[in-house]
Order: sequence, then C-alpha cells, then structure tokens
Amino acid sequence: MTLPSIPTYAAVIYLIAAVCFILALKGLSSPKHARAGNLLGAAGMLAAIITTFTLHGISNLWLIAVGMVVGVAIGVPAARLVKMTAMPQMVAAFNGVGGAAAAVVAITEFSREASHPIAIYRIVEVLFSVLVGSVSFSGSVLAFAKLQEWMTGRPITYPAQQPINAMVGAVLLALIGASIATSSTLVVVLLLIISLIFGVLFVLPIGGADVPVLISLLNSFTGLAVAATGFVLQNTVLIVGGTLVGASGALLTQMMSQAMGRSLPNILFSAFGSVVTAGQGVEAGDRSVRAGTPDDIAVLLAYSHKVAIVPGYGLAVAHAQHTARELADALIARGVEVVYAIHPVAGRMPGHMNVLLAEANVPYEQLKEMDEVNPEMPTTDVALVVGANDVVNPAAKNSPGSPIYGMPIINVDQAHNIVFLKRSMRPGFAGIDNELLYDPKTIMLFGDAKDTLTKLVDAVNKL
Ligand code: TAP
Repeated sequence: MTLPSIPTYAAVIYLIAAVCFILALKGLSSPKHARAGNLLGAAGMLAAIITTFTLHGISNLWLIAVGMVVGVAIGVPAARLVKMTAMPQMVAAFNGVGGAAAAVVAITEFSREASHPIAIYRIVEVLFSVLVGSVSFSGSVLAFAKLQEWMTGRPITYPAQQPINAMVGAVLLALIGASIATSSTLVVVLLLIISLIFGVLFVLPIGGADVPVLISLLNSFTGLAVAATGFVLQNTVLIVGGTLVGASGALLTQMMSQAMGRSLPNILFSAFGSVVTAGQGVEAGDRSVRAGTPDDIAVLLAYSHKVAIVPGYGLAVAHAQHTARELADALIARGVEVVYAIHPVAGRMPGHMNVLLAEANVPYEQLKEMDEVNPEMPTTDVALVVGANDVVNPAAKNSPGSPIYGMPIINVDQAHNIVFLKRSMRPGFAGIDNELLYDPKTIMLFGDAKDTLTKLVDAVNKL
C-alpha cells in the first residue's frame, strides 16, 4: 500500500518548515539568537501541523485535537515552571514521549498495512522506528527517575549483566528476523515489549551524573526513530525534523564525551561512579588545609586587578547565581576586572552554567569559555571556584591513572591565588581527591555557596 502523494502547496510549506528548523538550530547555537531561533522552529512546526490537518485522508480529527489539548495543558505549565536544575529531567520526559510516539505510530501504520503484502524496506522502516523509539522511551523514563532521585543515581550492576544484555540483544535480533519473515503485527508488538526491556537494562548501569550524556544520546535515537516513522508515513517534514534531531543529538553526545575526556563506550558501559575511588590523594585528616574568613577573602578579592569566577555544579545546587553576580558587580564597582570561566561540562548538563548565569543577567561579554580563559589564568590574581571541583582538578593533567585523566580543565592552578567555596573536603562527581584543595596558595571558605557568597558581598561592601 502506498500513501497518496501530497499537494504542491503542502510540499512547499513542509520545505519552508524544514528551512525554519535548520535556521532554528543555527540560532540556538548562540545565546544572543537562541530565543529567535526557538521561535522560528516553533513557527515552522506550527505551519507543518496546520498543513497536515488540511491533507486528505486524516481521520479521527477530534481524537487528535483532544490529544493536542492534553499535550498543551501538560507541556506548557511544565516548561514554564521547571527549575533550571531540573532541566535534564524535562528533556528526558519530552524525549521519551517523542520516542514512544514514533514507535506507536509506526506500529499502527504497520498493522493497517499488514493485510497486504509489504515490501521489505517498509518493514525495516517500521522495525527501526519501533526498536529505537521504544529503547528511547523506556531509557528516558529510567533516566528521568534517576535524575529526579526516585531511584538511586549510582550505577546499578548485577552478576552476569553483560551476558543478560547480550541475550536480550539476541532475542531482539531473532524478533527482527521473525517480523521480516512473517509480517506479523503480533511479532512486532513483541519486539516493542523486548525493546522496552532493553532500554531499561541499557540505562541501569549508567550513573546519575553521566545521565545527561545518555539523554543526549537517547535524544538522537528519538530523532532517528521519528525520521524512520517519517519514511513509514512518507512525510518529508518528519524525515527532515527527525534527521536534524538525530544528527544534532549525536554531535552533542560526542562533544560532551570529549569535554569530559571520556569515550562514549566508557560513559555507557563502565558504570562510572559505582566505586568511589580515593584517587592518589590522601585523606584530609593527614593534610593541612588553609581555611579563610569572609573578611580576609573579601580583602583579597577587592584589592585584586583580576578575578575569575569558576562556577560548577555546587553553584546550581545552592541557587547562588544571583549572589555570584552581586559579588561580581561589587568588585567591578571597585575597579576589579571580573570574568566568569565556563567549563563546557561544569554542572550536570550542557550549557548549565551559561543558562544559570544568563538567568542572573550576567552580561555575555563577562562569560569566557575554557579555551579563551585558560591563557589568562597566569595573570589572574584570584580564581574564585564556586561549587566546582572536577573541572579544575589538575589530576586531569598530572595523574595518568585518574578517572578524569585527559579531561580538559580550567587551569586555576596557574592563578596567583585560589579560593574554593564548598561545604566540605568531599570530592566532586568523579569521586576523586583534588590536590588543589591542599595547595599553599589555596584558601577554603566552607559553607553553602549562597551563604558564603552573601557574606563575601557584605564584606566587600563594608570595605
Ligand atoms: P563537581 O566536580 O561535581 O563538584 C561540585 C562541587 O560542588 C562538589 O565538590 C561539592 O562539594 C560542591 N557543592 C555541592 N553543593 C554545594 C553547595 N550547596 N554549596 C557549595 N558547594 C557545593 O562539579 P563540576 O566541577 O561542575 O564538574 C562537573 C562534573 O560533572 C564533571 O565530573 C563532569 O564530567 C560531570 N558531568 C557533567 C555533565 C555536563 S554536560 N555538564 C554531564 C555529565 C557529567 P561539597 O560537597 O564539599 O560542598
């Protein structure tokens, strides 16, 4: 069975929508144009949806309308109310339903066509969409549960994990073969169920803090599943949109892995974070650490020429972005040059720090990416590290055995003075000691980042 070809006006609007999607991606690549890019993408999507409603052969219109109303009623408030720290969960949820929709639409189309002989290439399109869409759905649900702390964020491993995964993989292959041989909807439904199980098994051993990379990968899977469904429905806008999501998700996954200095297989299969390693460091009890007071540190900051604020995950946890900006403003008012040194994987999601600091209205020109700021570190008087740890840990450069060896870092070790704002001597996500905390030029200011920053603002203003 082939679907009727679409009229020329619809093809032209689909083409325009596809161009909007591409320009939207371009706009999203810079903070200045991101809002306009987002709007352009949404406009393209709206045009594509309206056009699809005008096509012949669309039945159950009221059912589709109910689905859309329910989707809008859930999606709009969820997107408006979500906290910045919960953004990865939000992406996981939206991504998961996208994958599920692709799989369900493909299977429905298959069951409609199953009474006629179906060409192998059509079956392959359906199977790809069902398999990848279902893995993406159940994987995203589990990723959501991990990030929302509904379950442990630690990697879950159990005996014979790899053989069990291999067995499930073999069952999937057998079902794919059986689907092609029999064109049976029942077998495809079985494939869907086993794919859902596979998605869960795939995500279980991935640790909570690696989940954003996983979500980016699952996002790419959803895009590919949607593109395959586009082939099933012979809908060009779905093919183009899905391919763009698939490609951008794959690129983002690769960039995140590179910025963490780890390969994608290491992130997906090494159960990173299941064992907290002590690294080559020594317990804090054996070493002396220099702790400062807000007043001492305020003097150091206020009489500096140049201060680099290095934000990390702890800044997000403490919701300290506004207070960081207040401190920067107070220092700038005293003639200090202040920059924010942004590491690409500081925090727990891509662009985490940029988004938080933009929310606090930090001017873009004060944000400096790692490659831009590192050459300036030797001339920086104070590196103020706010709730960051791994992204400044010199073990990434100096300790070949360290789990983060090879990860590019912000070279705060080259600044004249280093101040760490954190609550304790506990390590960061990678679970390894940071020698820099014991460095003679390091001063620790212990406490929640928002509290300690507030004290610093007060102390600077009193000078
Ligand atoms: P981390 O190395 O995890 O360090 C964060 C530090 O913040 C901790 O040492 C913690 O120390 C401190 N902290 C937590 N809550 C705080 C609070 N309320 N006030 C003050 N300090 C607080 O973070 P990072 O340097 O941003 O590095 C990010 C890590 O996440 C990297 O290992 C990276 O590979 C990984 N990761 C990132 C991403 C993306 S895309 N961003 C994705 C996956 C994984 P205390 O407990 O002592 O306070």
